[in-house]
Amino acid sequence: MSSMYLPKLAKIVEVIEMTAIEKLFKLQFVNEEDAKSFTFKPGQFVEVSVPGVGESPISICKSPTRPGPLELLIRRVGRVTNAIHKLKPGDVVGIRGPFGNGFPMEKMKGYDVLLIAGGLGIAPLMSVLQYVVDKRRDYGDVILLYGVRSYQEALFRDMIIDFIRHPEKAGLRTFLSYEREDPVFVSLMKDHPENVRKGVVTVLFECADPYIKPDKVCAVVCGPPIMYRFVLKELAKRNIPPNNIYITLERRMKCGVGKCGHCVVGGATAIKYVCKDGPVFTYSDVLSVRGLV
Ligand SMILES: Cc1cc2nc3c(=O)[nH]c(=O)nc-3n(C[C@H](O)[C@H](O)[C@H](O)COP(=O)(O)OP(=O)(O)OC[C@H]3O[C@@H](n4cnc5c(N)ncnc54)[C@H](O)[C@@H]3O)c2cc1C
Ligand code: FES
Repeated sequence: MSSMYLPKLAKIVEVIEMTAIEKLFKLQFVNEEDAKSFTFKPGQFVEVSVPGVGESPISICKSPTRPGPLELLIRRVGRVTNAIHKLKPGDVVGIRGPFGNGFPMEKMKGYDVLLIAGGLGIAPLMSVLQYVVDKRRDYGDVILLYGVRSYQEALFRDMIIDFIRHPEKAGLRTFLSYEREDPVFVSLMKDHPENVRKGVVTVLFECADPYIKPDKVCAVVCGPPIMYRFVLKELAKRNIPPNNIYITLERRMKCGVGKCGHCVVGGATAIKYVCKDGPVFTYSDVLSVRGLV
């Protein structure tokens, strides 16, 4: 009998170095039945385990509309992620999940989709981006705002540059902000002054404003904790309804399924488990649950 506490074995089939500290892992379940029964929604995560080391929650970095291996973009920060980064194609990890609520893609149908990512926040948003691109007729315009510190730290940088240079091919409007100068982004900004800005991600609202229709848009946000307060303020200023703003959050986790209490946030009036009530929350949740952001 399968248990949500029991990892399924998955073999690493490819490892792509994305930056000095981030790698994209492509994984295939060892057991064919596990591969067949594994379905997921954009925004869900899995618990990845390395025997004898531990387990970490990691967002699924692809859309369920795309066949092929499971994709996980992993930043090396500590014990478990260091161990995962040492693995090579052919090595095996454990996978539990998928867990979490994911993004309400059905509810977002008919809306424009405004994706706002900071740094590694692009990983869970990639699942939404690919999903809306693959189901183009179900959604309105797609706008991506991506903020990075530098060229070296930018994830999917070739793809983002290609989106900016060839918007007709990508079918979406892409805006990029960077903090540290380098020749590639400086030249990109010279060629595409409407799409590229120096500064943090919120400087991009000025560029994207002509395309944001507050009553027609759902916003999806993921990035470092500091980013949320400023981005949510900008979205509120534009009168986007709080129920149409989705954020995906990170908390320290253990079980991933609402049993251990490690990820609980809130106070006397309302509590939420980030692992099962989230990791996707609305701005309305943020306004009613203490400590979410
Ligand atoms: C729902 C969810 C989705 C995630 N998706 C991704 C993803 O797609 N890619 C990815 O690289 N990471 C993701 N993370 C973060 C990832 O789970 C942690 O970085 C990882 O568990 C760290 O484990 P470690 O043993 O390597 O580090 P540890 O040795 O446990 O910690 C190293 C350092 O990182 C800090 N840290 C650990 N976990 C977190 C956390 N959750 N939030 C903030 N700081 C933390 C610790 O405080 C410490 O300073 C996600 C987390 C959650 C909850
Ligand atoms: S991680 Fe155990 S309750 Fe959320």
